[in-house]
Amino acid sequence: MNQDIPIGVVTISDRASAGIYEDRGGPAIIAELRRILTSPWRAETRVVADERPLIAATLTELADRQRCPLIVTTGGTGPALRDVTPEATESVCEKMMPGFGELMRSISLKSVPTAILSRQTAGIRGQSLIVNLPGKPSAVAECLAAVFPAIPYCIDLIGGPYLETDPAVCAAFRPHQSFESGPSKGV
Ligand code: MTE
Repeated sequence: MNQDIPIGVVTISDRASAGIYEDRGGPAIIAELRRILTSPWRAETRVVADERPLIAATLTELADRQRCPLIVTTGGTGPALRDVTPEATESVCEKMMPGFGELMRSISLKSVPTAILSRQTAGIRGQSLIVNLPGKPSAVAECLAAVFPAIPYCIDLIGGPYLETDPAVCAAFRPHQSFESGPSKGV
């Protein structure tokens, strides 16, 4: 049995899903996760059109059937008519985690004024954390790096696997625990 931690990588784009252009967002997420994570993991990749029911079904499948403790999406967060990723995410989550969107927007605003146009958010479905990123490949690394220090502890708190990161790239922050002391069940 494959013991690698499954991580959902979902590109949400009408054009990438139709093959009109190459998906660059999903590979950008995978490249950034490869840099950050030292735990063995594997990507569960999906490319879907900007259709709310389709996005919701994809997130549900990755959370409930594939048991991904982390699902990262790219695209569909803006104000355009077809941008519905945050609505689809909210429709499948029991809890929203607005701090993720707040931090990502504030970091992105330092490089691009249109960062305020992204409605990117995050939420919890069961034992899965779902994080939305904008569609621009350059935004993927910037936003993921900003929020990742809090992701392993968030996954601890929802009962997921212990994610380890390369401290030279991204030091995971776990309160009440030194980085050397290893897995802890408590908070
Ligand atoms: N965030 C970063 N870091 N870099 C960017 O270039 N582009 C913005 C914003 N956030 C951008 C960004 C723009 S122009 C838009 S329209 C929104 O993300 C929404 O993008 P999406 O619909 O592709 O998700």
